[in-house]
Amino acid sequence: MSPVEGSTDTAQAASPTLADEVGAQLRDQPRRLPAHALYDPLGSALFDAICHLPWYPITRAETALLSAHRGAILESAGRQTRVCELGPGNGEKLAILLQDPLPQGTHDVHLIDVSSTALEIATARLERLPQVSVTTHVARYQDGLRSLDATRVGDEPLLVCLLGSNIGNFDPDDARALLGEIRQTLRTGDTLLIGADLVKPAATLHAAYDDPLGVTAAFNRNVLVRLNRDLGADFDVDGFTHDARWNPRARRMEMHLVSRRPQRVRVPAADLVIDLQASESIWTESSYKYDAPGVDAMLQQVGFVPAVQWHDADAGFLLTLAAAR
Ligand code: TRP
Repeated sequence: MSPVEGSTDTAQAASPTLADEVGAQLRDQPRRLPAHALYDPLGSALFDAICHLPWYPITRAETALLSAHRGAILESAGRQTRVCELGPGNGEKLAILLQDPLPQGTHDVHLIDVSSTALEIATARLERLPQVSVTTHVARYQDGLRSLDATRVGDEPLLVCLLGSNIGNFDPDDARALLGEIRQTLRTGDTLLIGADLVKPAATLHAAYDDPLGVTAAFNRNVLVRLNRDLGADFDVDGFTHDARWNPRARRMEMHLVSRRPQRVRVPAADLVIDLQASESIWTESSYKYDAPGVDAMLQQVGFVPAVQWHDADAGFLLTLAAAR
């Protein structure tokens, strides 16, 4: 794969390594793994496959809302030429938004993600569009926003996109903190476009996060394959089952890898040996579900004006556009 052009690695100096994070989170109780570790090249491909599953409507719903309302989004976002997406995935969603050339010239697109694989794929897709120039930031969202802010010249309005229900993967305090940091990067009149998956019946959520084809299970378990390869770990991949649990009080799906039997795991790069009991779980990801007033209230709390919301009632998905006040 070709290197990412115009790439800046803003996070490297300050951020912990994968080995540090894995070491700390696996020692923790309950045991956890960093969610971003799911997205190595195979994990990114499996997530792409998830987005095609009939049981996982998030991507299709969001894509349809973006297509239907792209004119309104670009119009009320103030004809911005500068667009930033946090966690662009394969770039498809932003490509829909920017598909037709705009009269005002080139879109200066900034993509921020910890996964250089995702950035390469998204860049290749977006650079096929006329009038789009892409800069990538291999960084955590907050660090990438800071480096974007540092390069900001003139007063061209900025649109920040946080799509794919990425906000749902943050715990509530972290979600508010992230939205606050986004607000800090924005100036009055800049806009934020945010996609959020909504609370729905538990059975529907279970099918979305534990599909009958086993693609989601493969996606979750692949993190162990990755840690075996990248950190020299010796996870027995068959020794773990995928478990997706709905927590109605916290309004989140919890993704776990459950040990089938007592087992010892070594992670040499993290200087770690752990003994797992039968049924002990490693928590890999949370996916919080929202409702429309909740999204609006959270945005207002951190300094956005009441937002325009588009709703897909069948899929239970919400796209919200808010301006910085
Ligand atoms: N951002 C996606 C979501 O919350 C991530 C995801 C989908 C996921 N399916 C998963 C994460 C299964 C872990 C396991 O919907």
